[in-house]
Amino acid sequence: METLRHIVLFVHLIGFAVLFGAWAVQAFGGKREFTRLMSIGMTIAAIAGLALAAPWGIEYDLNYVKIGVKLLLLLVIGALLGIGTARQKRGAGVPAAMFWLVGILTAANAAIAAIWR
Ligand code: HEM
Repeated sequence: METLRHIVLFVHLIGFAVLFGAWAVQAFGGKREFTRLMSIGMTIAAIAGLALAAPWGIEYDLNYVKIGVKLLLLLVIGALLGIGTARQKRGAGVPAAMFWLVGILTAANAAIAAIWR
């Protein structure tokens, strides 16, 4: 069970890496647009994160306030990606604040996961 939990955590980290990596490519030298890869990474992180939010394969209590905050941030990231992608399809483009917020909130979620115990 513990090993399976570590595998799910690994998948969760792959999702985070795909989301943040795809965003970083766009931020530094790209067109600063939202891409499909960002949504794919977010979906992987979300599914694996929800699986990790249940207390299995561990002997300590989970910090549900921290998990709740992470879920809230993920919902905001999802909304921003959804609205931004719809705007792009209309040819309206993604506002700069919306683009940067996705990267900042993704990094914030990783920081919360690593620092808040
Ligand atoms: C973009 C969204 C997210 C990012 C960037 C992210 C990032 C991370 C990272 C980097 C870790 C590893 C931290 C460590 O092992 O110390 C982690 C662990 C974890 N994440 Fe996420 N996460 C996201 C969304 C979520 C969501 C939506 C949930 C649940 C609702 C969640 C639940 C967890 C849990 C339970 C762990 C296991 C370690 C712990 O208890 O902190 N994550 N996350």
